[in-house]
Amino acid sequence: MKLSAAQLLLAGASFTAALPHLDSPRQRLLNGMDLPSKYGENSKPYTPGHRDAEDNYVDAVGKKLDPKPWRNGFGASVLGPYNRDRSRQSPDMIRPPSTDHGNIANMRWSFTDSHVRIEEGGWTRQTTIRELPTSVELAGVNMRLDKGVIRELHWHKEAEWAYVLDGEVRVTALDYEGGNFIDDLKKGDLWYFPSGVPHSLQGLGENGTEFLIIFDDGNFSEESTFILSDWLAHTPKSVIAENFHLAPELFDHLPAGEKYIFQGSVPGSIEDEAPKGKNVKKSNYQFTHKMLDQEPKKTSGGQVRITDSKNFPISKTVAAAHAVIEPGAIREMHWHPNADEWSFFISGRARVTIFASEGTARTFDYVAGDVGIVPRNMGHFVQNIGDEPVEMLEIFRADEFRDFSLFQWMGETPQRLVLDHLFADDKEAGEKFWEQVKDAKKDEITK
Ligand SMILES: *[C@@H]1O[C@H](CO)[C@@H](O)[C@H](O)[C@H]1NC(C)=O
Ligand SMILES: *[C@@H]1O[C@H](CO)[C@@H](O)[C@H](O)[C@H]1NC(C)=O
Repeated sequence: MKLSAAQLLLAGASFTAALPHLDSPRQRLLNGMDLPSKYGENSKPYTPGHRDAEDNYVDAVGKKLDPKPWRNGFGASVLGPYNRDRSRQSPDMIRPPSTDHGNIANMRWSFTDSHVRIEEGGWTRQTTIRELPTSVELAGVNMRLDKGVIRELHWHKEAEWAYVLDGEVRVTALDYEGGNFIDDLKKGDLWYFPSGVPHSLQGLGENGTEFLIIFDDGNFSEESTFILSDWLAHTPKSVIAENFHLAPELFDHLPAGEKYIFQGSVPGSIEDEAPKGKNVKKSNYQFTHKMLDQEPKKTSGGQVRITDSKNFPISKTVAAAHAVIEPGAIREMHWHPNADEWSFFISGRARVTIFASEGTARTFDYVAGDVGIVPRNMGHFVQNIGDEPVEMLEIFRADEFRDFSLFQWMGETPQRLVLDHLFADDKEAGEKFWEQVKDAKKDEITK
C-alpha cells in the first residue's frame, strides 16, 4: 500500500514518530492537529517546561514576554517585586544562557539612569567611571542644545571626540598655532579637540542639536571643565583690566559665575562670523569629519564605517566604528587588541556575551541609549535580537581601530590544527566546518 503524505499525517503517532519533519509543531498546527504536551503552554520561553539546549535569544521587548528565571527545567518563579520593563530589556540577565559562568563586572549602563543637569535651553548627562565602574578608559556625555543655545567657550585636560546624533551644531576652536576653526555639523558628523584646545558648541537649525561626546579618560567630569566666565569671575577685576589694557569699570557686568549652557543669539553664516582682525588666521587643522558620509564597507549582514587617525588624522586618541546590524545578523565573534570598547547603542536591541578567559562569560542585553563596555582582548559578538536594525558606535581610546575575527583566524590556520582542536571526536563535522572557513575573509557583520 502506498500512502500519500496527507494519509501518513493522519495515520497517527507511530508513523509520525518515524517522520520527525512531519511531526514539527508548525506542521501539526497546519494540519489542525493537537500539539503534544511538550509543545503546550510550557514550551514558551520563561516557563518551567521550556527547553533550549542551544540558548537561542528571545526578544522579550518585541514579543512582550516577561522574563522569569526558568532554564531547562531548573529555576523558580518570582515571588518578590518584579520590574517588568527592566526585565524585558535584560532578558539574559534574568535567564542567562547556560554558557555564562563566573564573576564578570557589570558592563551595561543606560543613559536613562544618569542624572540630567537642566540648563537654559539645554541639558546634559554623563556616563563615567562613577556611573559604570568598567568605563575606565573613556567617559561619555549626552548633551542637547536647542536652537541658538551655547555650550560655553571652555577647555579641558582630556581630548574630546563627538558624534552628532541629530540636528545641526556649530563648533569653534583655536589650534596650538593660534589658528581659528569654525564648522557646521549635522547628524553623523564628528569633531575632535585635542587636550587643552579651547572650543564652543552651539545649536543651529529649527531644533538645535543633540550629540554624544567621548572623553579619553573614564574619570572625566563634565562639571569640572575650564570655563571662560568661571575663570573671569575668579580673577581680580584689576588683573582682567591690565590683561586687556582697558579700564576696570568696563568689566562691571561680567557674569558672576559660569554660564555653562545658555540661550545665545542665533549665529549668521560662517563667512559672516569668521574673525577678521588683521592678525587673525584660519587653522590649518581639520577638527571635524563626516563619518556617516563615508562609503560604508558592505558586509553580508549590514554595514560598517571606520574612522580613526588614518582618515581623520587629528583624532589621535579616539578611534571608532559605526555599525548597522540588520535583523537576524550578528557582529561576528571577535576581539580588540588595543583598547577597551565603549559602545553606544543608537537603535535596536542586541545581545552581547563577553568571554573573559578562565572559563568565565557573561551576557548583557542593550537597547537604544545604552552604553556597553568590552575590556580589551575579551572575545565577544553583538547579536541583533529585535526586528529593526541595530545601529551602534564602537569607540576606543586608540589611534587606530583594530579587531581580530574568529572566523578569519580559523580559515588562516592549518586545517589539521583546527580539526585536532575542535573536531577530534567528529571527523565528519570537522570536514564541513573546514569547508565553511577555508576561504575565510572578514565579514564583520554576518547574516
Ligand atoms: C523640529 O521639532 C518639531 C517638533 O518635534 C518637528 O515637528 C520638526 O519636524 C522638527 N524640525 C526639524 C528640522 O527636524
Ligand atoms: C578620579 O577623580 C577623583 C576626583 O578628581 C579622584 O579623587 C580619583 O582618585 C580619580 N580616580 C582615578 C581612578 O583616577
